[in-house]
Amino acid sequence: MIMASLFSYAAAALLLASGTQAVPQGPFGAESGIVSAVPTASASSAGVAASQPSSSGSSSNAASSDISACNNSPLLCDRAYNNVTHMGAHDSSFLRDASTGNSLAGNQYFNATVALDAGIRLLQGQVHDVNGTLQLCHTTCNLLDAGPLQDWLAKIKFWMDKNPNEVVTILLVNSDNKLVSDYATVFEGSGISTYGYAPSDGSTASSTWPTLGDMITSNKRLVSFIASIDYSPTYPYLLSEFDHVFENPYDVLSLSGFNCTLDRPKGQGSASNALASGRMPLMNHFAYSLLMEGVQIPDETNIEITNSADTGTTGNLGLHADTCVKEWGTKPTFILVDFFDKGPAIDTADRLNGITATGRKGVVGTGEEDSTSGASENNPMGINVALVAFVGFALAVV
Ligand SMILES: *[C@@H]1O[C@H](CO)[C@@H](O)[C@H](O)[C@H]1NC(C)=O
Ligand SMILES: *[C@@H]1O[C@H](CO)[C@@H](O)[C@H](O)[C@H]1NC(C)=O
Ligand SMILES: *[C@@H]1O[C@H](CO)[C@@H](O)[C@H](O)[C@H]1NC(C)=O
Ligand SMILES: *[C@@H]1O[C@H](CO)[C@@H](O)[C@H](O)[C@H]1NC(C)=O
Repeated sequence: MIMASLFSYAAAALLLASGTQAVPQGPFGAESGIVSAVPTASASSAGVAASQPSSSGSSSNAASSDISACNNSPLLCDRAYNNVTHMGAHDSSFLRDASTGNSLAGNQYFNATVALDAGIRLLQGQVHDVNGTLQLCHTTCNLLDAGPLQDWLAKIKFWMDKNPNEVVTILLVNSDNKLVSDYATVFEGSGISTYGYAPSDGSTASSTWPTLGDMITSNKRLVSFIASIDYSPTYPYLLSEFDHVFENPYDVLSLSGFNCTLDRPKGQGSASNALASGRMPLMNHFAYSLLMEGVQIPDETNIEITNSADTGTTGNLGLHADTCVKEWGTKPTFILVDFFDKGPAIDTADRLNGITATGRKGVVGTGEEDSTSGASENNPMGINVALVAFVGFALAVV
């Protein structure tokens, strides 16, 4: 969804013209206008506590024969994939950390590897076509470019290689309407397609999914959704999101704005229709704040409320989840949040799943605090002026 306005273009020009600070490693830092490097979060900003991951330790990518825990709990091994709540990081590759000069467009403090270590099992991102290369960019590649999709997928595969008891879901927005074969090329190029789970008929929703244990044993433990592609049996592991999933609204500007109404796919009409069709519910739970007319940024100010597992305060993740469970008669299969480490958001998934998790690594600090960009020091509002300007192009994206 594009929230552009003439006003924000004008504001962009104005802010850019009057900008007095150097833009650290941001979109305008390079003459080319493209920052091609994958964000390399510094070791400190992406630091993780040294607790014991129960599921790692094996570098084998062979199926595990003695599964003790699936997605951080023995209780989940016998649970069907669609009867588990998979906690997800919205825009998981778009970071607000030192690597992006604390970009206001960033939705997460920590990258996807850290997210997986912390128990996140759904990674969402947005893909654009940059001269024929599928690239992870936020709204536009001039705003936040997280590098080639293939490189990112290779990093996810690397993690999955080392964590053989984990089922991971990827959800990509196909912003430039590329073909499913284009995605297949990068999935195969990264090697991650080897884990791709292919339903017997991927063209249509099914209420019958294997258990996590089955997926782990068969080593087909990556579920890949793309919004939107035309499903092709040639690449049976690349699923068209809205054939299988429905979502509530994602463009929420107030903590009282979260609800459980079907937003997409519109054709389903209602959440109950979508559920009856076998589609799995995805609960978007992130808020934007309005920086200026037409300029929306991820709402960081209220994040402790937004991501809280509590059920007592409007905007709480726990409350929203309970509301949807009541309304849908089933728990969300997927939840997407910004700044996943806050809350922490995973607590709500654990409650819905009825588990006490093992083998996770907690995150330490925030990318923001570790910034070396100088943007905050130079700007009393802590705002990266050029980025703010460009945010006007369209931040309300999924
Ligand atoms: C989902 O899992 C719960 C907990 O194991 C179980 O009680 C319930 O029957 C399952 N639902 C379905 C539809 O299988
Ligand atoms: C996240 O950052 C760590 C530390 O820099 C790096 O090893 C890892 O590959 C990164 N993961 C992704 C998905 O970028
Ligand atoms: C895309 O290709 C055109 C023409 O070769 C070139 O001018 C432009 O710089 C390229 N853009 C990027 C982002 O590589
Ligand atoms: C849910 O939120 C959407 C988007 O804000 C709104 O259009 C819709 O009316 C809301 N549903 C209800 C039942 O309030």
